Amino acid sequence: MGCTIKCDNICCGKSHAHPDVVKQLNCKFRLLRLSGSPSLLNKHLTPERFQVLKWKKTNYGMTLLDCAQTAFENPDSSVGLYAACPESYDVFGDLFDEVIMEYHGDFKKSFIHPPMDWGDASELQNIDPDGKYVISTRVRTARSLKGYPFNPGLTEDQYLEIEDKVVDALTRLEGDLKGQYVGLINMTPDEIEKMINDHILYKEGDRFLNAARAYRFWPEGRGYFYNPDKTFIVWVNEEDHMRIISLQEGGNLAEVYQRLADAVTDLSYCLEFEKHERFGYLSMCPTNIGTGIRASVHIKLPNISEDMEKLKEVAKVLNLQIRGTGGEHTESQGGVLDISNKRRLGITEIEVIREMNNGIQQLIAMEKSGGITM
Ligand code: ADP
Ligand code: ARG
Repeated sequence: MGCTIKCDNICCGKSHAHPDVVKQLNCKFRLLRLSGSPSLLNKHLTPERFQVLKWKKTNYGMTLLDCAQTAFENPDSSVGLYAACPESYDVFGDLFDEVIMEYHGDFKKSFIHPPMDWGDASELQNIDPDGKYVISTRVRTARSLKGYPFNPGLTEDQYLEIEDKVVDALTRLEGDLKGQYVGLINMTPDEIEKMINDHILYKEGDRFLNAARAYRFWPEGRGYFYNPDKTFIVWVNEEDHMRIISLQEGGNLAEVYQRLADAVTDLSYCLEFEKHERFGYLSMCPTNIGTGIRASVHIKLPNISEDMEKLKEVAKVLNLQIRGTGGEHTESQGGVLDISNKRRLGITEIEVIREMNNGIQQLIAMEKSGGITM
């Protein structure tokens, strides 16, 4: 087919989005604008940017449609943008830069993510030494294998290839990181449900990921790894190629964090992770780049959570995020909140943990004094 687009490159079919894709984008973009979506995508995909970006295509064959379709199908998205491959962060950089800057607390275009620094876990104390508020502590990070697209662009063979490489690396772990891998394909629906309810395994069927075509070939290549104590877990091929997780009951943040640092260090001897010169470690969602770390507590704060709106405002000031008991997009059950750091980019691993630790300490102090004091 002849090229109908005037460009400096050879042919729109190769270096540009196909005209059919552009046609779809035009239609979906119009509808999104009319929807008044509150998403960062809708805010930052201005008509001027759209006119330029709609023609672009990465070397992985990914277009703006692959990155933004989650917001087109879910106008209530808060972010509404996923990278379909590592190159999306540059090819659609005008858009990603804006979304990233707003989500990660003013990470300006001139900023560069600092080198990895796990610091010294022994500086951390138990967040809740009396065991009155914190039920459990979890620290996770996201990693992508170098040279592969993210969910929207993965083929079935690539899912299986990633699974093989990750499982091979996981089976080399020693000590308390030693464990076993289970493919979802070998689990019954009841087993899956139990693991989800125990906060070990990922939920299925997230509509934001579904719209991003993240569930193609499911459950092929998907699974999870766990040690016998279930304090170290790795999710394979869910939202990211890898989610590396450390968790345990109580508030011993130092122990949880050290376990994660050890695991990531050991795994990086066997696996090469996708890294960006400005954004550090890359993952599918622009909220999870940089350190990729989300450090959370399951916590009960009955006094200060009486007024949830006020608590959310305070959390914002402290750079914290509140989720429900079952994780993102769930409600709190029995007064249990999931409170974690919000930003993961522009600060080092240990700084992320300090930010979360300081914020939680302040919330506990307010809870003890009987009310919000900010
Ligand atoms: P992610 O943390 O990977 O972004 P979610 O918010 O969906 O994803 O949470 C995944 C699972 O981890 C959920 O089951 C959630 O309840 C559980 N979880 C999160 N924080 C804690 C915690 N501190 N203790 C126990 N489980 C937790
Ligand atoms: N895509 C969803 C939204 O925009 C979630 C974004 C952040 N969470 C995540 N799991 N990546 O609302």
